[in-house]
Amino acid sequence: MSREQLIEMTRNLIAHGAADTMEYADDVVRVPASAYTDEALFEREKQQIFRRLPLTVAPSCEIPNVGDYKAMDICGVPLLLTRKKDGSVGAFLNMCKHRGNPLAEGTGNATRLMCGYHGWTYKNDGDLVGVASPQDFGAIDKAEFCLTRFPVYESAGLIWATLDPDSKLDIADYLYGYDDLLKAFEFDGWTLFAQRTLPGPNWKTAYDGYLDFYHLPVLHKDTFGADFYNRANYFAFGPHQRLSTPSKFAIKVSGDDDQQLDLEHLSDDEIPQEVLVQGVWTIFPHISIASFYGGGQRGAMISQLFPGNGVGESYTTQFYVMENKPETDADVKSAHEQFDFLEIVVRDEDYKTGKRQHEALQSGLLKEVLFGKNERGGQVFHQWVEKLTNASDDELLDIFAAEHREAAE
Ligand code: FES
Ligand SMILES: [Fe+2]
Repeated sequence: MSREQLIEMTRNLIAHGAADTMEYADDVVRVPASAYTDEALFEREKQQIFRRLPLTVAPSCEIPNVGDYKAMDICGVPLLLTRKKDGSVGAFLNMCKHRGNPLAEGTGNATRLMCGYHGWTYKNDGDLVGVASPQDFGAIDKAEFCLTRFPVYESAGLIWATLDPDSKLDIADYLYGYDDLLKAFEFDGWTLFAQRTLPGPNWKTAYDGYLDFYHLPVLHKDTFGADFYNRANYFAFGPHQRLSTPSKFAIKVSGDDDQQLDLEHLSDDEIPQEVLVQGVWTIFPHISIASFYGGGQRGAMISQLFPGNGVGESYTTQFYVMENKPETDADVKSAHEQFDFLEIVVRDEDYKTGKRQHEALQSGLLKEVLFGKNERGGQVFHQWVEKLTNASDDELLDIFAAEHREAAE
């Protein structure tokens, strides 16, 4: 079924490509410049968006084996992810119930985790199994002091968690069926080749860039080239959006030869999987996924963006996932070159520009910024951020329940 939806999107792109057209939003949209600079709003966004909505916390291949764990901090919340005995993922508040010390740091493999402060021990499913010197500590009911559990969901080779232990928002509802489409990347069983974290500008400034092809031949003229396409059609699934260039051609990369495919003349069955997932797939509010070929493998860059401490700061982890680990030295080298290239593009072009833009906006002298009819992705993103930032907890549930009903109709 999801292949049918992918084919439908691809046919839309082919038809627009053949006609040299693109889909437009209704109007040019104005967004107040303060949406990027207002510190009180920024704090509300962290609370209402990042600490309340499901977030894509890791690719599954970052913790593939039973016992693997990963600790991270998201907007001040210490999160612990574990791969439990039954192969499912656990998501916990990374704080010992004794006095709150984080249990784990970084990544590792352990089926039991001992707190480094006084030595309490937990299983990786969150159960407290050992209180140090219990005869001295005093009687407590261990069941009452398990790690705090967060809602967690794994699908399409990605892991989501909601950093609110009391959240009633179903993560699958929130995803709107988008994870079924993401399965087309076939990340399940892929491998994590490399990762790095980069500092960036305001999180929305940074995210705007992932939703924008308009800038590609200008800002990235020295890296992607001045002839690069600048048009995208947008496909929205709730707040999640895929963007891709309208074109009737695709490059099929097989080994060393690039082969131009005339998609108009292919039947649905003949369209290769890699063509069906072309473009950029964003997962609201902070993920962008783009696939490419490098190191002799199919690969993808999963960029995971989080707000930083201040309104003008964010940080992005780039995960380079690959279908298989590259085997030859030449393939490893070319995969690293590919990864380094994408660091340069993002750090020295996108984020450098974003920081300059942010500093200028902070002057307060420009009241509004614009998103053209050709930039529907940014329009939709800012509308969702505003709507979800202002929604009460009950409204949040309604929004996703209602969206679901509409999708089913
Ligand atoms: S804080 Fe963890 S054992 Fe004391
Ligand atoms: Fe860019």
